[in-house]
Amino acid sequence: MGKEARPTVIAGNWKMNKTIAEAVSFIESVAPLVKDASAKVWLAVPFTALSAASKAAQGSNLVIGAQNLSEMEEGAYTGEISGRMLKEAGAAFVIVGHSERRTLFHETNQIVNKKLHRALQCGLNPILCVGETAEERKAGHTETVLKNHLLKSLHGLATEQIQKTVIAYEPIWAIGTGNVATPEIAEEVHSFCRSVISHEWGKEVAEKIVIQYGGSVKPENAKMMLDQSDIDGLLIGGASLTYESFSKIVNLHNAKVRI
Ligand code: PGA
Repeated sequence: MGKEARPTVIAGNWKMNKTIAEAVSFIESVAPLVKDASAKVWLAVPFTALSAASKAAQGSNLVIGAQNLSEMEEGAYTGEISGRMLKEAGAAFVIVGHSERRTLFHETNQIVNKKLHRALQCGLNPILCVGETAEERKAGHTETVLKNHLLKSLHGLATEQIQKTVIAYEPIWAIGTGNVATPEIAEEVHSFCRSVISHEWGKEVAEKIVIQYGGSVKPENAKMMLDQSDIDGLLIGGASLTYESFSKIVNLHNAKVRI
């Protein structure tokens, strides 16, 4: 079993961008452009736009998701949003452990692990983000950091739950910097992540799990990433904010399939 057996998942992460009106207008513009996509097309929108975005996406192949969730079920947690609320608002997936959450909002692997369990319990497919800093890479600690992120974040998940999870390798030095990883570096890390999964959950699970690359993906560099044998998709920040560049990246994958 190889790459062909895995779906390609191209996801946009809007971060703290777009109002409800802007989200709806984006979806109306992008939906006809990506209707023939052979990749799965996911969009992680702000909480406030979830409901309107999922309505606007109805009848299209766009799948709407969220960017974070609370690890708690419900209760006195002012300002938090639960998995059940996300699901009801139309989210099908949720990003968990993005490096901005880990760094700016102090999310540890333990918190990320609780969030993953909660997401799956609520019927949301998680995208788990992992990745090293520039300093960690320079010091030769990339594999240790990634193994730690993967094993601690995924701790206690059953095989079927791992299979519902997408991994996003996002080197922190590549996020929002324009400094995209080389395809060789990305492929090396993806293959390492797959071997960690294989060792812990078995070869079959590792062969099936979708591993995305994220960090300064643009229409100009997306194809060389998607061409790598262990890269099954992309998590796109900046370039997902305009429907032109997002649809261009999604359709690059189509072109590859048709050739
Ligand atoms: P970027 O962000 O594409 O703007 O680098 C990627 C991400 O943070 O998911």
